[in-house]
Amino acid sequence: MTEQSTELRIEGNAIELRFVRESDFDAYYAFLQDPELNRLTGSHQDFSREEIGNWIRKIGVANEDRIDLMIVLKETGELLGEVVLNERDTDNRSANIRIGIQGTQHRGCGYGTEAMIRMLRYGFDTLNLHRIHLGVYAFNPRAIHVYEKIGFQREGLQRDVLFMDGMFHDMIMMAILEDEFRLLHG
Ligand SMILES: CC(C)(COP(=O)(O)OP(=O)(O)OC[C@H]1O[C@@H](n2cnc3c(N)ncnc32)[C@H](O)[C@@H]1OP(=O)(O)O)[C@@H](O)C(=O)NCCC(=O)NCCS
Repeated sequence: MTEQSTELRIEGNAIELRFVRESDFDAYYAFLQDPELNRLTGSHQDFSREEIGNWIRKIGVANEDRIDLMIVLKETGELLGEVVLNERDTDNRSANIRIGIQGTQHRGCGYGTEAMIRMLRYGFDTLNLHRIHLGVYAFNPRAIHVYEKIGFQREGLQRDVLFMDGMFHDMIMMAILEDEFRLLHG
């Protein structure tokens, strides 16, 4: 598995991770329209079809500072969501991670946990990262549970970072270090 490969494919048990393709356009468009996902990720933005087309072309390969992989159900090829390593800082060997699974029927099936662990392993093994961090809104107990289960530790709280549904919300900052990941996941 080479770092900048356009053929990158990470195979899991139930899912696989791969780059987005032009043929994913409709599924990726639907993913970005999921209201629950947009609420939980604090997204305020609507994207035009043209913007989404341009974005797919940008993230369809590994970029210098980010790698966006689609989470695909192995059995059917259905696009479930995405997991992204971004804000990569090679000097300090760190990056941010974020994830989204679309559709209530796909959440709570174990796909998010598996996708996170596979992407973290790729980050530590192949990208030589030492630290992977994330932010999660305090109103998202499921995501917080998943991250803590994987081994992320809470590092702090950003107060009132998001204004949504008429009120401000805090963001919990979490991170996992390479040795912590290896201790838990081998
Ligand atoms: C967060 C997310 C990635 C998790 O992936 P998933 O596939 O749904 O999660 P999994 O099925 O792997 O695991 C869910 C876990 O959360 C637990 N859970 C479910 N609802 C919960 C709740 N309200 N509070 C606490 N834990 C909860 C489940 O019991 C399960 O834990 P277990 O494995 O210990 O039994 C996914 O739900 C998602 O994309 N949600 C919408 C977008 C989002 O929140 N993104 C993260 C932004 S930071």
